[in-house]
Amino acid sequence: MKQLTILLLTIIIFFSPLVCSFAQTVSDETGKDAKMLWFADAKLGIFIHWGIYSLGNTSESWEFHNKRISHADYMSQLNSFTAKSYNPEYWADLIKRSGARYSVITSKHHDGVALWDTKMNDLSTLKKTPAKRDVLTPFVNELRKNGIKVGLYYSLIDWSYPDYPGFLKDSSRYDAVIDPIRWGKFLKFCHGQVEEIVKKYNPDLVWFDGDWEHSAGEWRADYIRKIILDNNKNTIINGRLQGYGDYDTPEQNFPVSRPNLKYWELCMTTNESWGFYRNDKNYKTPYEIITIFADAISMGGNLLLDIAPDEEGTIPIEQVNILTELGKWTNKHSEAIFGTLGGMPQGHFYGPSTISKDSTSLFLFLPGKVTGDVVVKGLMNNIKKISEVGSGTLLQPKVVGKISWSTVPGLVYINVPESVQDTYMTVLKIELDKPIKLYRGKGGFN
Ligand code: GLC
Repeated sequence: MKQLTILLLTIIIFFSPLVCSFAQTVSDETGKDAKMLWFADAKLGIFIHWGIYSLGNTSESWEFHNKRISHADYMSQLNSFTAKSYNPEYWADLIKRSGARYSVITSKHHDGVALWDTKMNDLSTLKKTPAKRDVLTPFVNELRKNGIKVGLYYSLIDWSYPDYPGFLKDSSRYDAVIDPIRWGKFLKFCHGQVEEIVKKYNPDLVWFDGDWEHSAGEWRADYIRKIILDNNKNTIINGRLQGYGDYDTPEQNFPVSRPNLKYWELCMTTNESWGFYRNDKNYKTPYEIITIFADAISMGGNLLLDIAPDEEGTIPIEQVNILTELGKWTNKHSEAIFGTLGGMPQGHFYGPSTISKDSTSLFLFLPGKVTGDVVVKGLMNNIKKISEVGSGTLLQPKVVGKISWSTVPGLVYINVPESVQDTYMTVLKIELDKPIKLYRGKGGFN
């Protein structure tokens, strides 16, 4: 018996690196993983930067911090934030049509201007701008009506608050460590605002920014997390809370290897600016955005794509167009996107892929105008069916190089005719006999 066990163990240890089963667990249904389920399934979120910087002449907050204009001049933009064309119903509808399952809006950027009716100070769109209203609540309500998860961006940094140490680049008001009493006054304000937004909106996600200016201890990051989870233990917190968040948030730069945390989200602008910037016409094309999105989900991540309405609340036409085109593509290919798992490791296919949650379907994304033969390597399963997602057109595989006496699988060639090509990115579905198994070996005789 003992010998048999040793033999079995040896076989398992010897063969395990060669074959890898893709019954990936998205969730253990306990604790953190359970609350992350909707996020892992959601894949696409829309980020909104909206504030007094949306006049289109300055960058968000950084403009005065980096001394490109004075703080007084920057704040004078308060007088022009009218929100007169603001149509939260339309915003939510556009987001829904893009295929996004969640949205994150700047409740307050580093400039300290709150979009809701904060009771902690007077610096809000309600009290200090001609809009004269809380512009956050109507949008949150519209998201909920449309079944879109609600995310609130909140900047921990508040460069306009008189008791916040940081102000302009290279010159701060004081040192938080040297003057803990003054820092304590700021913390009371900051924690108070966090409590306000979680109690008022019960967000599905709180998206912090600016944690880099202070340590976890200084922010009392553990306490901030507690405020949020005491209100709702299922609220997700992004990774910018000095180690107290739930997922990684690489920004703009696409990760080539998987980020450290199990869950992650790439946040990215449609042009080069987070807020509305009149002269920035350097937009990414729908094709570029779609391929970036497919790459992110193939690596088990999400995309949080930013849009930037102007001070009246109008979303630039270029951004409307991007979301519309993205929506056509996500809706056509939804089964390959939403609720899937990250795809095969590199080496099996020249492009992104995803796997259905039961691991019996493999989706291949074909960037560029691919026609002719694509190839999948190391697929141990029998193939039941291959089709193009959207039209359902059936395609035939040809297995090449399968040696009858070897367990190593052959190469699967699939011919993709021009007739099934998508405008942006064609997606194939390979239905398998069982949960996917991949050969990861180095060739040879096995
Ligand atoms: C950066 C910037 C900020 C922007 C954010 C979005 O942290 O400070 O302006 O809102 O990225 O991820």
